[in-house]
Amino acid sequence: MTINYSEKIPNNVDLAHDRTLQRALEHWQPHFLQWWHEMGPSDFEQADVYLRTATSVDAKGWASYGAVKMPDYRWGIFLADQQPGRTIGFGDQMGQPVWQQVPGEHRSTLRRLIVTQGDTEPASVEQQRLLGHLCPSLYDLRNLFQINVEEGRHLWAMVYLLHAYFGRDGREEAEELLARHSGDADKPRILTTFNEPISDWLSLYCFTYFTDRDGKYQLKSFAESGFDPLSRTCRFMLTEEAHHMFVGETGIGRVVKRTLEVMKELGTDDPAKVRAHGAVDLPLLQKYLNFWCSSSLDLFGSEISSNAAASFANGLKGRPDEPLYQDHVLRDVSLKLDTPEGAQDVPMLNALNEVMRESYLKDCEIGLKRWNRAIERAGHDFRLNLPSSRFRRAIGSWVGLPVDPSGKLLPKEEYERRLNEWVPSPEDKAFVKSLMQKVVEPGKMAAWIAPPDRGINNLPLDYEYVHLS
Ligand SMILES: [Fe+2]
Ligand SMILES: [Fe+2]
Repeated sequence: MTINYSEKIPNNVDLAHDRTLQRALEHWQPHFLQWWHEMGPSDFEQADVYLRTATSVDAKGWASYGAVKMPDYRWGIFLADQQPGRTIGFGDQMGQPVWQQVPGEHRSTLRRLIVTQGDTEPASVEQQRLLGHLCPSLYDLRNLFQINVEEGRHLWAMVYLLHAYFGRDGREEAEELLARHSGDADKPRILTTFNEPISDWLSLYCFTYFTDRDGKYQLKSFAESGFDPLSRTCRFMLTEEAHHMFVGETGIGRVVKRTLEVMKELGTDDPAKVRAHGAVDLPLLQKYLNFWCSSSLDLFGSEISSNAAASFANGLKGRPDEPLYQDHVLRDVSLKLDTPEGAQDVPMLNALNEVMRESYLKDCEIGLKRWNRAIERAGHDFRLNLPSSRFRRAIGSWVGLPVDPSGKLLPKEEYERRLNEWVPSPEDKAFVKSLMQKVVEPGKMAAWIAPPDRGINNLPLDYEYVHLS
């Protein structure tokens, strides 16, 4: 379905035929733009950025590319097409028609799920707002801004649902989504990971690799929802999300590539020498992976969760790729969970956060394999790993336990003494910060990262992806 760009708010939901909703969203729009101005990328409002904009929601050719000033980006409301005859694909009401309106008994749960998802979108823009000043290349700068405008659009996606289906409460929640800010002492974002500062590009690549991938898994589970407008909204968001993870995976891959080049040049894998040469040594990269992976694992919630059970049984939130499973009701099955007290049999419905976390971790392995292949080909024994899902947990049965990245329980004193071996220490962060020198000459790259294999949309690497005025 083609998107109507002639209206104040681009949309494919026939907004013009719902005057009340249109007015409410047009009232919210300037608040959003004000938020973008204050909390979005700092100082690049006048730059022309080579951005893609959605033109239709089908798989082929949904985007058009062109130079846009970010405040002029056409944020709007785009839902994937309705699937005729769609039925609920899991839970106790499996097989019944999906809902086009919010069922009264699930109203507050659905609102909470939508608000929690919606809160992460502007949060990440806030977390990344200063990175433009430290970009390793114009190519990367453009990718950052593409992600930022799309996260802004994801906020629109959730705000549309709140306005269209949750009345006055929904409108109030939409205002609150602009009032909370990442890292704010009084009004922080809802989830911890989205309050962590992202002050360097190594963190950005890890965030887009691990945290945007959590986003992918959340969106995939909402895409299964029996509340059809939520499903359709998330299906389109997933096509945008894929680019964010691409930036993470290729970003880390380029860091690895550059580090291997430096190791070869120097004829050593001594981390101190690699660092002295201005590259990210592999043990340092491992620490960044440990930090962002463990932080993102918390986003899936507790291993044992009655909320997850209810959301599934009620048809609100499925498993990612639900159709690939055999059993969609899960009333008579259990899962063996590994807890600090030993193995425990838990009803499968209550263990769904863990099921999701495990499939997420499998997805995370794909990049690791690729990077490790490059390291192996270069003749080094070092391997990058994902930390154990017990490491550094702030939620669930392993919360606060002194476990090392291999999953081994240590004496608390030893854990605290050694934590900086596993996550970036203040010195590590200072070193990474020192690498962050802005490079904005077309085609040039900072010395700590290799160029990408190809440019955006088949353009050459030295294309001026961001025209700074
Ligand atoms: Fe997003
Ligand atoms: Fe994202």
